[in-house]
Amino acid sequence: MGESDDKHQYVLSIREFRPEDIRQIRNLARLAFESEVDRYWSVVGAQKAPYTYIAEINGNIVGVIEFEPFYLPNSVEGHIWYIFVHPEYQRRGIGTALLRKAEGILSREGAKRVWAITSPDNIKTQLFFEKNGYRRIPLDEMKKLLGSTNTKKFLRRMVYFEGDIIYMKVLM
Ligand SMILES: CC(C)(COP(=O)(O)OP(=O)(O)OC[C@H]1O[C@@H](n2cnc3c(N)ncnc32)[C@H](O)[C@@H]1OP(=O)(O)O)[C@@H](O)C(=O)NCCC(=O)NCCS
Repeated sequence: MGESDDKHQYVLSIREFRPEDIRQIRNLARLAFESEVDRYWSVVGAQKAPYTYIAEINGNIVGVIEFEPFYLPNSVEGHIWYIFVHPEYQRRGIGTALLRKAEGILSREGAKRVWAITSPDNIKTQLFFEKNGYRRIPLDEMKKLLGSTNTKKFLRRMVYFEGDIIYMKVLM
């Protein structure tokens, strides 16, 4: 961020979602996702997630993160639903800023870990989570951490499909 030409001069702010944001979010989802399924569910998620935060530049929405604390019998697990950034504004730290915001809130909610799922062909997102300190977790490691029943419950919540990549970060 902070490049010298005018197009790249901006002040980024991160704030809570408001219902009137939905039209801009719909447009953003159309640009950020190729799949109709993700376009649809990311917009639904913005309205339904316990937490939705917006990255905004000069009144324009350029990024969204949707997340929740997921309550298991013995722990609170942070769960990222969707994160997406306007293609023209990617690689400038906006996704990272949104993720940090979510991690801070989830930590305050009692989560010691944050989880996210990506499809195996979404390389950009895999590199993004890895750069942000997330580690790939094989299913059997997840089961060891959470127990089989809780893992099953959480995977259902995450809408996990066989072959998806599970990421997890331990919060400090
Ligand atoms: C994933 C996504 C949210 C990242 O947002 P972003 O604002 O571009 O991320 P950042 O600028 O904070 O990137 C942080 C780091 O992640 C890695 N990274 C992010 N995008 C990358 C890319 N296209 N190629 C390689 N590495 C990438 C880099 O290490 C980057 O640091 P660097 O730019 O200093 O090298 C964005 O690519 C996106 O919206 N993708 C489409 C929607 C999607 O698939 N979302 C995830 C599923 S819900």
